[in-house]
Amino acid sequence: MQKLIIKGRKEISGKISISGSKNATLPILAASILADQAQIKNIPLVKDIFTMIDLLNFIGLKTKLIRKKNIIEISSKGKNINTLAPYKLVKTMRAGILVLGSLLTKYKKAKVSLPGGCAIGTRPVDLHLFALKKMGAKIKIKNGYILAEAKNGLKGAKIRFPSISVGATENALLAAFKAKGKTVLTNCAIEPEIIDLIKFLNKLGAKIHLKGRSILISESKIKTSKISHEVIFDRIELGTYIIASTLLAKKNLIIDKINPKIIKSEIDVLKKIGVKIIQKKKSIIVKKGQRLKNINITTKPYPGIPTDLQAQLMVLLTQVNGVSKIKENIFENRFMHVPELRRMGAQITIKDKTAIIKGPTKLTGAEVMATDLRASVSLVLAGLIAENRTIINRIYHLDRGYEYLERKLRHCKAEIKRI
Ligand code: UD1
Repeated sequence: MQKLIIKGRKEISGKISISGSKNATLPILAASILADQAQIKNIPLVKDIFTMIDLLNFIGLKTKLIRKKNIIEISSKGKNINTLAPYKLVKTMRAGILVLGSLLTKYKKAKVSLPGGCAIGTRPVDLHLFALKKMGAKIKIKNGYILAEAKNGLKGAKIRFPSISVGATENALLAAFKAKGKTVLTNCAIEPEIIDLIKFLNKLGAKIHLKGRSILISESKIKTSKISHEVIFDRIELGTYIIASTLLAKKNLIIDKINPKIIKSEIDVLKKIGVKIIQKKKSIIVKKGQRLKNINITTKPYPGIPTDLQAQLMVLLTQVNGVSKIKENIFENRFMHVPELRRMGAQITIKDKTAIIKGPTKLTGAEVMATDLRASVSLVLAGLIAENRTIINRIYHLDRGYEYLERKLRHCKAEIKRI
């Protein structure tokens, strides 16, 4: 099994370019089932994306990945379609559930494996099914599979989500595309990745309008011409590298291929901690040498602080003066990086949903275990600032979502290698 070995305390300098967003690419790939032909640019070459491509191939779409250009071309013309998403492909990547909405819209039926729980929480799909049922889908659960059918097509509905879910909003959007009449979704997730999905769907012929946390969808026809879309940048990857730069910059660090406006709340919170950031149109500069101070943070749906940045922020807060608190409001079990960070010397205690972090503490290298995607990258950050050597096991979690992590860090002179 592969491991990462990091020699800590090496200053970094230079430029980091941010990849396309994994969490935007996944629903757009699921949406491409609806298109006759689509070209999607700026896709990150990470495991979750490969799994989604495998799923599209399994369903019967024709895909051509042009790795050198981070482009995928997808065609669903003249192929035998299989409206099944099997367990083996959904179990490792929950976003597989997103093909449910597209398959129901285009083929009026779908059989999709239930994703099951995962390390960060139970992660049910009740909200996805709630929305589809409201649109007239008949749904049964049998042998671990969701069996969904809408023989006469789906129909528009007014749906208020009882709580905010990124995936359920995406699935509802995919299902509402051709639904008869109007659909109004309220209390939706409005993450930038969802806005990107809406842009893609509108290019495909949908009539979708966003107003606050409500989304209005009018019955639409799918365009048959080839459509092209460039995926937005990965705001979580950007946040991760801002934190790395803050802790390790030898000189000012440039992070490019981004749009700072989209991550306003993240930049605001980092500025409150004391990180000095200069915003340009398509890049930011993280300035060296800042005095960092403690803060209390609560993770929330967008435009709040993202749960996907919680573990990385925690590493930053081990280095600031004073006691900080992070309340994790989205997932019930998302502090699994804490015992590993403690083994590296961090002073963190957990009380209910809140982690209390005492800083500044000197971290020391250790052999640690990655438990999920964002927890893994927090251990990389900890390893980069720790004294001596850190060995990170189970890095397959990292490969699910960070494109060229070691290459990008080594390019900035960090000492990190995979064995
Ligand atoms: C997406 C992101 C993930 C991010 C999360 C929250 C992708 C591929 N993944 O995951 O990186 O951490 O948003 O920003 O985009 N819930 C229910 N019932 C449901 C669905 C969700 O109770 O049917 C709960 C979840 O257990 C969780 C909360 O709602 O507590 C938010 O989850 P959700 O927004 O759905 O996350 P995902 O779409 O799975």
